[in-house]
Amino acid sequence: MTKAIYPGSFDPVTLGHLSIIERAAETFDEVVVAVLKNDSKQPLFSVSERVSMLEKVTSHIENVKVLHFEGLLVNFAKECGVNTIVRGLRAITDFEYELQMAQTNKALSPDIDTVFFTTDVEYSYLSSSTVREIAKFGGEIDKFVPKSIISKVYDKYK
Ligand code: PNS
Repeated sequence: MTKAIYPGSFDPVTLGHLSIIERAAETFDEVVVAVLKNDSKQPLFSVSERVSMLEKVTSHIENVKVLHFEGLLVNFAKECGVNTIVRGLRAITDFEYELQMAQTNKALSPDIDTVFFTTDVEYSYLSSSTVREIAKFGGEIDKFVPKSIISKVYDKYK
């Protein structure tokens, strides 16, 4: 059985993330979406909110489960019995950071590899921070995030 882990902050999940999850779920038998709980960052959504939003928007995909983790990703991947990390690549600007992260993870745990899915062109400019910025100033985010979470994002800025 092939397994992969798709880690991220998902603050909030975007349509770009969802596209990567759907495509990873077609490629691997099981995909663990792993939400980082990072106490040194002040996220917009708590880790439990991010997990429950992801559960909701992936409920149509049978072979996806959503968990959260703290600390090193490679340790969590091992706990889950996974040795493939999935990441999305939007543009060349992502490449340096992603390469550094993949190589660091490989140095920490040589049996773990990272595979990249190129983001759909229509989402190549999209990020959670852009969504937060637009929502903060009352702009429309319906093209960027799954329908079920639109009001949750606006609610954070009320
Ligand atoms: O969505 P993001 O914020 O780009 O995701 C980054 C994430 C969560 C994948 C990365 O920060 C991470 O894996 N953090 C856990 C700590 C870790 O393992 N660091 C070593 C690899 S650089």
